[in-house]
This record gives sequence, C-alpha cells and structure tokens, in this order.
Amino acid sequence: MRRIEELMSLAGKTAVITGGAGHLGAAMAEALAEAHATVVLVDRQGPQLEEAAQAIRSRTSARVETFQLELADETAVRALPDQVAQLCGGFDVLVNCAAFVGTSQLEGWAVPFEQQKTPAWRAAFEVNVTSVFELVQAALPHLKRSGKGSVINIASLYGIVGPDWRLYDGTSMGNPAAYGASKGALIQLTNWLSTTLAPHVRVNTISPGGVWRNQPEEFTKRYVERTPLGRMAIEEDFKGAALFLASDLSAYVTGQNIIVDGGWCAW
Ligand SMILES: NC(=O)c1ccc[n+]([C@@H]2O[C@H](COP(=O)([O-])OP(=O)(O)OC[C@H]3O[C@@H](n4cnc5c(N)ncnc54)[C@H](O)[C@@H]3O)[C@@H](O)[C@H]2O)c1
Repeated sequence: MRRIEELMSLAGKTAVITGGAGHLGAAMAEALAEAHATVVLVDRQGPQLEEAAQAIRSRTSARVETFQLELADETAVRALPDQVAQLCGGFDVLVNCAAFVGTSQLEGWAVPFEQQKTPAWRAAFEVNVTSVFELVQAALPHLKRSGKGSVINIASLYGIVGPDWRLYDGTSMGNPAAYGASKGALIQLTNWLSTTLAPHVRVNTISPGGVWRNQPEEFTKRYVERTPLGRMAIEEDFKGAALFLASDLSAYVTGQNIIVDGGWCAW
C-alpha cells in the first residue's frame, strides 16, 4: 500500500488550469504546484496571468507556464493541448475554472430577469460549457496517454440550487439565469464524460459556495446566517478538494461533485 505522500504527489505531472489568473484558479494551481506538478495557467488576462504565475513561483519550487488565450476562440482552445504537451512533455490534469461569473461585465447579464439578454446567455454558455467540451475533446489523447488523466470542472452551488433572492434585497448584486443554467450543464457534462472516458480518465466537479470578496455588508450578513459553517468561503478552502481530485488520493473517484459550500446545500 502506498503512503499518503505518494498518493498526493503530482511530481512529473502537468496540470492545466483555465481561469488561472483568477482567484480560485490561482489558489487551486498553487495547491497542485505545492504537490510538485508543473502548472500551466491559462487565461485571457495577460498582466494578471503573469502576476499569478510569479506569485506561485515565489511560493513553490514548481515550474509555472502561462498561455494567454480566449476560451471563446475554438481554434485556439483546440490547439492548446498539443502546445502544452510539447512545451511540458505531457498533459495530465485539466482544471476548468474560467467562467463568466456574477460580476462579469456583460450587457444584459447581472440584471433583473426581464432585462437579461440572449447574447449574454450565449456568451456564458460558450465559455462556461462549450469551451470545456472542446478542451476535453482536444486534450483527450494526452489525458489517456498520461494513464492518470483527471479533469476537474469548477461549477457552483448555483448549478444545483436556485438563488435565494432574499439575500440580494436592496443590493446591486445580480445572479444571471445563464450562470446557474451553465453551471448545471457543466455538472451534467461531468457525469456524461465520467462514464464515457472511463476507465482511462477521471472526471469530477467541484461546486464552490460564495467566496468572500467585499460583497455588500447586508448580503454578507444574510449569506453567513444561512450557511451552516457560519462564514463565506476563502480561496484556500478549495486547495484540498483540487489536490484530492487531481491526484491518486482520488484514484477510485469519478463522476462526483464535491460541494465546497460550508453546508449551504445541505439544509
Ligand atoms: N467566487 C465565487 O463566489 C464562486 C462561487 C461559485 C463558483 N465559482 C466558480 O469558480 C470559478 C472561478 O471563480 P473566481 O471567483 O476565481 O472568478 P475570477 O473572475 O476571479 O476568475 C475567473 C477567471 O476566468 C477568466 N476568464 C473568464 N472568461 C474567460 C475567457 N473567455 N477566456 C479565458 N479566460 C477567461 C478570467 O479572466 C478570470 O481570470 C468560476 O468557474 C466560478 O463560476 C465562484
């Protein structure tokens, strides 16, 4: 029987994290880097991408590469896995973390339902779901060759439950229909891929709850009151689940959704 250190080690593995310049993407990438993976951060925001890479390099001894890429660009998405494999010698773990989120600046997005617009809906599905379909398809030969291929899709509690609008009363915050619907689709894409790509590649979801990010005071207070663990999430709350699903710690786990929400969905 292998020891825990061996099961959790990602030495010799390459992990690609989309949305790697973002809050959760960078935190999960750092977790994998601490377990000795080579990490490849993918994002459309160039300066933030370099900043995130530099931060991980300064705190770990891992190799960190970056690709500036727009996930709505199918040609670029499909070309990425070969480019990564050529640069890093393999492609073993894929964390699909990039997304249009509640605070994304899109017309007809985080506004009352009657004002939500089809182009914003389409844009969200394009990035939150379609790019995942394309990226997994293009990465599949590499993930299979790895023998330890693991895909981790980052969904949301709003892919599972509807918004509790009482939390939003009197704030300017929104919760677009396309956000929840696209995350629900991603959870089902995980289920579908998990049986389709088995036994070669494991596919799982992490569904985060709300992360503390200076939300309006009244929202935070109501959110915390409604959360069994009595607080909003912080970035490091996602490091453990990411490492578990990326490594042999979860070698017999596929098709699961780990809900990291402080118990929000358990009522
Ligand atoms: N923050 C939360 O409260 C929360 C809650 C539940 C789920 N999530 C999920 O966690 C993930 C990360 O969220 P976050 O809070 O770190 O958000 P974030 O905005 O900090 O990071 C998202 C990153 O994705 C990138 N991105 C977005 N669209 C892209 C595109 N078309 N091409 C390339 N890159 C693109 C952004 O540039 C950004 O760096 C998302 O999937 C989000 O839906 C977040």
